[in-house]
Amino acid sequence: MRRSRGKGARCSLPLPPLQYGVPSAAMTSQRGSRRRQPPAYSWPMDSGSRDTSAPGTANPLSRLSLEQLRRRTSMKWRTYPDDVLPLWVAEMDTPLAEPVARAIVDAVALGDTGYPAGTDYAEALAGFASGRWGWDGLAVKRTAIVPDVMLGIVEMLKLVSGPGDPVIVNSPVYPPFYQFIQNLGRPVVEAPLGPDGRIDFEVLEAAFGRVTDGRKRPVHLLCSPHNPTGTLHTAEELAEVARLARSYGVRVVADEIHAPIVASGATFVPYLSVPGAEDGLSLMSASKAWNLAGLKAALAVAGPDAAADLARLPEEVGHGPSHVGVIAHTAALRHGGDWLDALLAGLDDNRRLLADLLAAHLPAVRCAPAQATYLAWLDCRSLGADGDPATLFLDRGRVALNSGADFGTGGAGFVRMNLATSPELITEAVHRMAAALD
Ligand SMILES: Cc1ncc(COP(=O)(O)O)c(C=O)c1O
Repeated sequence: MRRSRGKGARCSLPLPPLQYGVPSAAMTSQRGSRRRQPPAYSWPMDSGSRDTSAPGTANPLSRLSLEQLRRRTSMKWRTYPDDVLPLWVAEMDTPLAEPVARAIVDAVALGDTGYPAGTDYAEALAGFASGRWGWDGLAVKRTAIVPDVMLGIVEMLKLVSGPGDPVIVNSPVYPPFYQFIQNLGRPVVEAPLGPDGRIDFEVLEAAFGRVTDGRKRPVHLLCSPHNPTGTLHTAEELAEVARLARSYGVRVVADEIHAPIVASGATFVPYLSVPGAEDGLSLMSASKAWNLAGLKAALAVAGPDAAADLARLPEEVGHGPSHVGVIAHTAALRHGGDWLDALLAGLDDNRRLLADLLAAHLPAVRCAPAQATYLAWLDCRSLGADGDPATLFLDRGRVALNSGADFGTGGAGFVRMNLATSPELITEAVHRMAAALD
């Protein structure tokens, strides 16, 4: 993997300073005023960004320039040299939603940076689930905060399985599934998706049948919505997963991190909302939809028949999330709805743009429109390229994409593109990819 040279800021766009709540001389000299209001939050990116319309309604994907993005120090922007367009790891090229930034700044102003406490995050998620998905079954008492979704998955696997127990995944799937499961000492069993990117129930049942021997405690790690294909599992499909799992004695852990990110007209169905899924466990988080991966916090949610399992979660797991992360995630779910809607509209546009660009410049690359996530799964098998297309696009086009080969069986010959960026960068990336084939 290419590493950047770790250079510092490369552009000097004038960004106004954040107005933290450092007491001014005037405030400190006010005798008798015991409670000070935190100062108003000042939007940090208005100056220097290209789109200065009101935050919350403008397309968040068009607000930051390439120069601003290159000043970021996170994985997406620091792994490759500056001549590479990074459209790989699942970070978004947006500023923070204003209510989220405000909540963080207010917490900092107050010095509210201790340990997490309470059920605010779970209550916010329950409200969001009810409002967005019409699901009122998320019981706050059957939730637990966990540091992030992957560590939450690990903890759920520890609760319902033991060392050596198999974990079934629907490949091609998010590569860390393989690493985290194997590091935990569980073998991964693949039940590949069908060619349409949907769960193949014959294949799934055969996999369940292979791993059930009465002694093992198998788990199906369901990715819903599915990364990388963007498949939204229907209520019927999820109920069929639950039925099969029950009949084979397989427990289901659902990773629902991408749940808020759906294409227009599509609806996410929570796994725990379908009949038969009462003993399921789910991991949810605001981190993908509001770009909060660096503010660690996620929620484990148990169905009614898994409540006793979740109750065995060691208390110290709940000390892992960041308190400021919990505050940020809570604000996103409570107050970030308008921002999310603007993001989803921008992603719809980006999916259409990508389809047009591929048709015009890379007609041999096929891409079924994703129903969810901000990821595009590009089938490059007809390009006839030698080797991995991701290597070709990186070496010759200077575009960083995820190699499909890392996603397990069914991934070779594909690349995953991150569409949570501006239309300009998507356009530039496809032009570069087309030029790489010349
Ligand atoms: C399906 C899926 N699960 C988990 C994660 C990682 O989540 P976290 O950072 O909360 O561990 C990602 C990140 O992209 C993901 O796509």
